[in-house]
Amino acid sequence: MKHLTALLMAAVLVLGMSACGRSEQKEDTANMQNTEGEAENVTVSASPEENEVSMMEIPERFVLIEGGTFQMGSPENESWRSDDETQHTVTVSNFYMSQYELTQEEYEKVMGNNPSNFSGSDLPVENISWLDAVSYCNARSESEGRTPVYTIDGQNVSWNRSANGYRLPTEAEWEYACRAGTVTPFNTETSISAEEANYYGHYPYMIEDNYFSQGNLDTQPGEYRQTTVAVNSFAPNAFGLYNTHGNVGEWVWDYYGEYPKTEETDPAGPDSGTLRVYRGGGWNDFAKNMRSAYRATLAQDKGSFNIGMRLVLNAVAGSGSVTGTALQQDYGASDNENVLIAYFSWGGNTAGIAGEIQRQTGADLFEITPVNPYSNDYNTVLDEAQRDQNEQARPELANHIENMEDYDVIILGYPNWWASIPMPIASFLEEYDFEGKTIIPFCSHGGGRFGQSLTAIAKLAPDAVMGEALSVHYSGGATLNEEISQWLDTNGMVHE
Ligand SMILES: Cc1cc2nc3c(=O)[nH]c(=O)nc-3n(C[C@H](O)[C@H](O)[C@H](O)COP(=O)(O)O)c2cc1C
Repeated sequence: MKHLTALLMAAVLVLGMSACGRSEQKEDTANMQNTEGEAENVTVSASPEENEVSMMEIPERFVLIEGGTFQMGSPENESWRSDDETQHTVTVSNFYMSQYELTQEEYEKVMGNNPSNFSGSDLPVENISWLDAVSYCNARSESEGRTPVYTIDGQNVSWNRSANGYRLPTEAEWEYACRAGTVTPFNTETSISAEEANYYGHYPYMIEDNYFSQGNLDTQPGEYRQTTVAVNSFAPNAFGLYNTHGNVGEWVWDYYGEYPKTEETDPAGPDSGTLRVYRGGGWNDFAKNMRSAYRATLAQDKGSFNIGMRLVLNAVAGSGSVTGTALQQDYGASDNENVLIAYFSWGGNTAGIAGEIQRQTGADLFEITPVNPYSNDYNTVLDEAQRDQNEQARPELANHIENMEDYDVIILGYPNWWASIPMPIASFLEEYDFEGKTIIPFCSHGGGRFGQSLTAIAKLAPDAVMGEALSVHYSGGATLNEEISQWLDTNGMVHE
């Protein structure tokens, strides 16, 4: 009993210390930066609710993020913001966050496998789904004697907020930590260069509007590395966190949903959904999609070479638990009578790929055509496309599907335009009800793979199930037929 009282007092002391003065924390953070990740060992208590006080060391390379109140989201005058970034006041409590994205070495040590697309022990793990990320958190907690935070029941995951194990940050914690007190589009202020972050450096912030007038840019185009880089690359933000912008996007706890209009403390997002949020942008993203407020999303059982994770630990035991009910459904296409191939193509590449898919599946083919076609001139269409995207235009479509109810699976093709979908695809997705249907995207691109087009589709058709997507470089090479055939297999589609 004496022992327990001593532990309790120590816990109160530690919590009291971590709750006091902002200036003290600033000093700590600065020290931690100077020693490059040699974070002091700090102790923290687990749940008092569970009547169990287990003193755990905070691992090296974690920093205390002192909580506070901030404006989450972006101001209405921020260029390239999305409507779902509505600014609102959020307070977050103290928490510990890893200075680095989780490495492949750390992942493999616990899980015994490494799903990453790139290979290197100090590179961030990627190609992990949200479900992989929470499984990792629990497995690592168990391996270190911590109480696992998540209860995973198939697609349904609940979060015990008082447990002392590893977890993902909430979306609010992530943005608070990334901003580190800044209110600008990036924590490097109004722009970010390829010397400051690993991203699609050819496309710095505002390049869209200044493609033909690059002298106007704060940051000139830089290197596009086409790979992840070591997690300690570049300078950290003011909280000592590395690569919050770029390298890999980072899964957060929250389901994707609209922000509330009211003030919140320690929000955890909607309690059900189909899509989880990831933040910060990756090696393959344009700068506009690495902004502190930008919200990317994907189904929780899907991964990407552009998405990894960063660990968090409670500094103050939370209370209660957050349930997560997955609205995800399975799908299956037993024959191809219920399959539609719908595509938009400007230069013919997507049309050619759609034709090959049609040949292999025999499915119905539908071309999405705007009433007012885009210019035939390449430079002009670049301008038209970025203008439409910036305005979130919904070009009127010339043709319509009368019997959409007959289709269960829509194979949706489009060219990558400015790292997203051409706006006629948005018009198409808004025209029909996709609830209970499966959308299988394919994207023709000039090097940017999907960009953020899968996020755009998911946001526009949140009730659809998303199949495995295919990206094809321009019109595809000699192996296109084989790639399509394998991709159809992956999606369980019948084909020749
Ligand atoms: C307006 C416009 C914007 C583009 N933006 C991108 C881009 O951001 N990333 C990329 O990889 N390719 C981009 N491209 C290249 C196209 O994705 C690529 O050429 C594709 O094969 C075109 O398909 P289509 O012939 O069906 O129109 C762009 C092309 C155009 C016309």
